[in-house]
Amino acid sequence: MKRSLSLGLPAFAVAAVAIATLTCGSPDAAGGGHASARGKPGAQAAGGQGGAAATAPATAKAGTAGAPRTVAPGDDAVPGTPAADAAQAAAVAAWDVVYGVLQHPRCANCHPGGNAPLQGDAMLVHAQNVQRGADGKGLFGMHCSTCHQTRNLESPHLPPGAPEWHLPAADMPLVFVGMSERALCEQMRDPRRNGGKTPEQLYEHMNTPLVLWGWDPGPGRVPVPTSHDALMTAMRTWIDGGCGCPDK
Ligand code: HEC
Ligand code: HEC
Repeated sequence: MKRSLSLGLPAFAVAAVAIATLTCGSPDAAGGGHASARGKPGAQAAGGQGGAAATAPATAKAGTAGAPRTVAPGDDAVPGTPAADAAQAAAVAAWDVVYGVLQHPRCANCHPGGNAPLQGDAMLVHAQNVQRGADGKGLFGMHCSTCHQTRNLESPHLPPGAPEWHLPAADMPLVFVGMSERALCEQMRDPRRNGGKTPEQLYEHMNTPLVLWGWDPGPGRVPVPTSHDALMTAMRTWIDGGCGCPDK
């Protein structure tokens, strides 16, 4: 039954993927549950490797679950309209602001390409041979919490601190350093590479202690110059406009 139906599906499935990309910020995170998770671009791409016959049932489900999303996230974002084009352009422009924050040393020092945190505005490799460890909390006796507390200490060059001070885990390193605007944008909207976060969860993450620390980094450290409000506004614009990525 499904097999014969699937003959008519490919064009629709392609449309569903395009819509899912455009409505990256649609309010599916709260109620969509498992079915809509299958409609995520990342899930589609992962399933899409397997061949048409194998993936047709999955894309049919995604299409069904994704259908209501064509009217979200708002009347000004109906696909194909000039307003939607403008929202998409605004999203790509907003990424520029988000990217600038992510590349700031207060953020990027904990999102390195290697297995050690970086430190200072020069982003030098952390002293004392501190290493990530599998869980991001340091190796052997050099656990982050050996030196870093849940708050900043009151003199320059003492360890800064915030609750749960650690690096991303080794199997999900969330690298920011050395990533182009486009590469980091694509990583961040891909749930397979962003720690399984929906766009709304990424938005919420920007209000968690390690991120907020970037605006209160303790004595002797320069805070992120873009305001936190400006970051949140840019995130909202990026998500609602479809999480578009620039070419650069
Ligand atoms: C002390 C280290 C530390 C600092 C400083 C830090 N982060 Fe992170 N960041 C982490 C860890 C650990 C995770 C993953 C665990 C989690 O989800 O909480 C993470 C996850 C993230 C994520 C989620 C997923 C993804 O795709 O990357 C974002 C976004 C993020 N950080 C942004 C920032 C921003 C913006 C700043 C600076 C204002 C910042 N981080 C500063 C350690 C840090
Ligand atoms: C032996 C003590 C010690 C351990 C262990 C340690 N740190 Fe540090 N860390 C410090 C000190 C001291 C500083 C401040 C250096 C300065 O400001 O001159 C620092 C600074 C940093 C900074 C720089 C902040 C900035 O933006 O300049 C980051 C990021 C950092 N540590 C992350 C970590 C992480 C993640 C771990 C665990 C994997 C860790 N550290 C383990 C002592 C330690």
